Amino acid sequence: MASGTARYLRYILFAFFGLAVIYFISSSSNQRLPTTIGGSTGWGGIPVKAGTTPAADAHPVAGTTPNTIPGLPPATAGGPRMNATFVSLARNSDLWEIARSIRQVEDRFNRKFNYDWVFLNDKPFDATFKKVTTSLVSGTTHYGEIPKEHWSFPDFIDQDKARKVREDMAQRKIIYGDSVSYRHMCRFESGFFFQHPLMKQFEWYWRVEPSIELFCDINYDAFKFMADNKKKYSFVLSLYEYVETIPTLWESTKKFMKAHPEHIVEGNSMGFLSDDGGDTYNHCHMWSNFEIGNLDWLRSKAYTDYFDALDKDGGFFYERWGDAPVHSIAASLLLKKEEIHFFNDIAYYHVPFTHCPTGEKTRLDLKCHCNPKDNFDWKGYSCTSRYMEINGLEKPEGYENQQD
Ligand SMILES: *[C@@H]1O[C@H](CO)[C@@H](O)[C@H](O)[C@H]1NC(C)=O
Ligand SMILES: [Mg+2]
Repeated sequence: MASGTARYLRYILFAFFGLAVIYFISSSSNQRLPTTIGGSTGWGGIPVKAGTTPAADAHPVAGTTPNTIPGLPPATAGGPRMNATFVSLARNSDLWEIARSIRQVEDRFNRKFNYDWVFLNDKPFDATFKKVTTSLVSGTTHYGEIPKEHWSFPDFIDQDKARKVREDMAQRKIIYGDSVSYRHMCRFESGFFFQHPLMKQFEWYWRVEPSIELFCDINYDAFKFMADNKKKYSFVLSLYEYVETIPTLWESTKKFMKAHPEHIVEGNSMGFLSDDGGDTYNHCHMWSNFEIGNLDWLRSKAYTDYFDALDKDGGFFYERWGDAPVHSIAASLLLKKEEIHFFNDIAYYHVPFTHCPTGEKTRLDLKCHCNPKDNFDWKGYSCTSRYMEINGLEKPEGYENQQD
């Protein structure tokens, strides 16, 4: 009798335990159902990207392509979107070089965030350029023509004098020294891209040039990082500028500093630019073919006063001032030093230099495919050590092994 009761109790316990297991499994798999962000839920709770109908993909035909499997969760990141865009200056003939860049930016970053992309050109974009780039960009694409006055000689420039400079630089074999269009480009990137009507609607930009590479995943919103950390300008590579292209840029800058002391910020990065407190320029600059920055800062009175002063001095045409030293000097004098950021984790290549993150853990975590030996940061011709020093930042672990 007693053993019969015990067996009966055991059955009840087993049954109860079994029900509890079933309940646990079913409730935890409910929690694991993917949730959609900015999309809708398709048939049977399968999430689909906004704007796509599940019907189109629902019945793949075996043995044919395209043969997509329906119902994969969207790879889009959640959270608030920033008021931001990519921006590329490109000619129609740059299509396949910019396509390569876009593909890498999308794979490593933007497919998760779907930011817009603005393309600017001094000529109208052709249909092929638009068709291909629109297909590659996950966000909305915009195509703009550069107004004539942003891509031509201003009337105060002496054309003869400018031509003689180009002939002389050609003889001295200075890179792009004889090019008119390169000068228009440098002046446009220095003073006008952020004033373009298509750019006015945005607060943040990320500049992308043709034929760049990104070697690591970027798993967070770099624009939001900039905003949250009060950054205004950023870089991945820095180096010394060719002296021959900017012989009087520092004289013009000193003249501007004297005329506009109100724009020179306390706690700036003068130590990055000068080894003698501002008397001479050491030619350090951040490479501007990669930039994530704040457009409202570039449109500020401080920055536009600086650009206008340089423009009037004529060095974009009488020398060959690049937009990299112009942006760098402006960021170093008109911003607090904490407002400039070095992205060690954004791995980047633009001929001929590579930034590959220092620190093996970073490279493995971010699935990087760059060779750490190619990293330029700690070599003699880089200014990144100087940036770390003036900001009191520790160099990343492992930098000693990459100094030559
Ligand atoms: C984005 O930024 C621009 C420039 O600051 C501003 O004019 C525009 O109103 C902003 N848009 C939104 C949606 O906040
Ligand atoms: Mg380039």
